[in-house]
Amino acid sequence: MNIRPRRNRKSAAIRNMVEETQLGVQHLIYPIFLKDGVGIKEEVSSLPNNFRWSIDQLIPEIESCLKLGITTYDIFPAVDEKLKDKTATYSYASDNFYLNAIRKLKETFPEICIMSDVAMDPYSSDGHDGLVENGKILNDETLPILVEMAIAQAQAGVDIIGPSDMMDGRVGVIRDALDAEGYTETSIMSYTAKYASAFYGPFRDALNSAPKLGDKKTYQMNPANKREALLEAQLDFEEGADFLMVKPALCYLDIIHILRENFSIPITAYNVSGECAMIHAASRNGWLDYDRAVLETLLSIRRAGADGILTYFAKDFVQIIKK
Ligand code: PBG
Repeated sequence: MNIRPRRNRKSAAIRNMVEETQLGVQHLIYPIFLKDGVGIKEEVSSLPNNFRWSIDQLIPEIESCLKLGITTYDIFPAVDEKLKDKTATYSYASDNFYLNAIRKLKETFPEICIMSDVAMDPYSSDGHDGLVENGKILNDETLPILVEMAIAQAQAGVDIIGPSDMMDGRVGVIRDALDAEGYTETSIMSYTAKYASAFYGPFRDALNSAPKLGDKKTYQMNPANKREALLEAQLDFEEGADFLMVKPALCYLDIIHILRENFSIPITAYNVSGECAMIHAASRNGWLDYDRAVLETLLSIRRAGADGILTYFAKDFVQIIKK
């Protein structure tokens, strides 16, 4: 044998020298759940170590995350059922607690990067990402609502708008509206290939946002499809997206890879709630080593080609690598 691959694995020094994929806190985006009120820090029962925060409690939490080097946050609102309606009007109401909290966060920590979610589901009495009429999810009628929401978020100081609804044409109309209002610096991270997945359960628990009727298969993608992800990516790219996101991450590493190979703008992946919950559940049973499983998971997403990763493990990741 003149070629022995094991020679390049014989010491930590050599292994580190030839390591092909880098993973650091700078690659991570931390999803956070926000709730109206004061003094609230409620753990999401299906998502250990993740909480619904009121803004007064969140501020010291962000301060401690900043000390760990986490600089980018994706904030989601848990909206009171009473404020939900068919057209998601609360999403852009002037007294919306989520928009107020974003203003407060940007004022307190001007250096952080805040990403938002643009979709109707947390505000919709139907629990769908689009307008529902006679059991159908309407596309074009939903777009103006998404635009209102995006403008309100940009006004509040959001750095990256995150359209997560999978309506056709939404990136283009949001980009045009942002530009027309003077928000040319506001970025768009499009949920480009978002699949109709079983792995969103804990997130819907966190926001109480599950669809009241039916499922999301007429707008989210079929898990069987890969070429269709290229079509979605092409459209989002042409409509002006700054980042293309794949979601979920782990069952879709091939999709991350194919977008990485075909597009020059940054690719991100959402390591979703169900993927996080699986690792917690197995670790709590003593079936997996939590720390190692978290590192391997995040590394695999980077290796597949993701520049950035949205992950509920962000804080734990830093604590693990510090050990
Ligand atoms: C809603 C939205 C969802 C997630 C992010 N934005 C859920 C859904 O589409 O039902 C899921 C994130 C996760 O599971 O961690 N538009």
